[in-house]
Amino acid sequence: MDINFRQGNPLEITSDCLIVGIFEGEEFSSGLLNEANQAFDNSLEDLNSQGELVGKTGNSTLIHTLGKSSPIRLLFVGLGKRDAMTEKAVTEVLGASFRKARSIGASIVAIAVDTFCTEEIKAERIVELVTLSAINGLYRYEDHISEKSDKAISEVLIIMEIPAEVNVSSYTAIADAINLARDLANAPANHMTPTILAGVAEREAQENNLGFELIDEDKMKEFGMGSLLGVAQGSIEPAYMIVMKYEGDKDNPNDSIALIGKGITFDSGGLSLKPPIGMTTMKGDMAGGAAVIGALTAIAKLNLNINVYGIVAATENMPGGQAQRPGDVVTAMNGTTIEVLNTDAEGRLVLADALCYANHLGVNKIVDVATLTGAIRTALGDEIIGAFGNNDELIQNVIDAGSKEGERLWELPADESFAKNFKSDVADIKNVAGAAGGATIGAMVIGKFAEDTPWVHLDIAAVSRTNSVNGNNVKGATGTPVKTLVSLCRSLAK
Ligand code: BES
Ligand code: ZN
Ligand code: MN
Repeated sequence: MDINFRQGNPLEITSDCLIVGIFEGEEFSSGLLNEANQAFDNSLEDLNSQGELVGKTGNSTLIHTLGKSSPIRLLFVGLGKRDAMTEKAVTEVLGASFRKARSIGASIVAIAVDTFCTEEIKAERIVELVTLSAINGLYRYEDHISEKSDKAISEVLIIMEIPAEVNVSSYTAIADAINLARDLANAPANHMTPTILAGVAEREAQENNLGFELIDEDKMKEFGMGSLLGVAQGSIEPAYMIVMKYEGDKDNPNDSIALIGKGITFDSGGLSLKPPIGMTTMKGDMAGGAAVIGALTAIAKLNLNINVYGIVAATENMPGGQAQRPGDVVTAMNGTTIEVLNTDAEGRLVLADALCYANHLGVNKIVDVATLTGAIRTALGDEIIGAFGNNDELIQNVIDAGSKEGERLWELPADESFAKNFKSDVADIKNVAGAAGGATIGAMVIGKFAEDTPWVHLDIAAVSRTNSVNGNNVKGATGTPVKTLVSLCRSLAK
């Protein structure tokens, strides 16, 4: 799909479908509806008086122009009251509009950008949101479906009266990164093993000029990554620590951030086996790793002045004959011993060694992303990312970076008062404690391995997938929090 700019009157530019925003209460006084009404001999006013073509949020009316204007169809979409319009609302309208245009077979879809602008949300921002919606809102995962959909939008025309200085390429890079992350997390676990995931990361590293290194199980043994290896030993699939490196600030090689992703390509629970229903979505337990790989590609394309490592601890969590047993004690790379009382709390175990490795690399900041706990959904619902950390400034930076891009985060405590809960009788710590504050317990186990490095943990277990179609999300993986990670690196870059 191409995204191109056009200048001029949208009603005079040829397209299969022109998307036009209308504000509640100003249907005929602003935007293009008045002009279209004249072309249609005032017949649109009649529709309006019958309740169609009104600017209420969620309302949409499709008009066939039958030769009366250059676009073959006009899709009028309600934006609600002008001063109440938010970026979230625009995104919901845009995503739905593009899907509607595709469903009626439109190939060239135009959008009248000026009809979406308000005092708060200017044309430049609308263009960015259009770019995200065109790429992410139209996403579908059909790799394993024999009869692929035949309807597709080939070109999006962004029409503005006055051309704005907008660099869509940074938002196409972000949107592509989100779709890449979705592809990886939507892939069935037999099509997305740690080996395959590592292969994709390597391909993306090559295409984006990133440094790339694979730590295989032999090297993990040399490094003493017993915590990661303990999870991996129940599977016949080899595990990998995937390391990507973007060097955007070559003058300060000692200044870098590590983005670390949980890369469990399938979480059966191990010997602490999950019930069948809990396993059905566990092909997506590498969504954090997928977001990190995606973010690195976008960061490279944006050419940010910052050094970023992307580290993904990739393995299956399986109950094979070699699997670790509840009660086993493993030793992580930094020497900390962990009693594994529940093999289903494996995310913190693989991340432990990933954080140790980041510290070994000498990074100055760590952000880890993981589908870590079911408890985060109980705490925050399914739209908000849980944020934990050991450094107030970095936590705030991450939260601000996300909220700028419409990804919501909420801080939860990683408070020392919880530490007594995961004291072990036989090792330095145990990997689970009681049910209370489950997301915090998980976060704090990971935090042990950040040591003194400023660190933030994002629990995305509730937001990494969705069952509904909304805005730019369709059923399946959401690609969250690619936008937060890229926005964070943007804000930290010099
Ligand atoms: N991958 C799961 C967490 C998860 C649950 C992600 C639901 C997405 C949706 C994680 O490895 C896990 O099993 N966590 C356990 C931890 C418990 C054993 C302390 C959980 O949340 O039940
Ligand atoms: Zn898991
Ligand atoms: Mn688990």
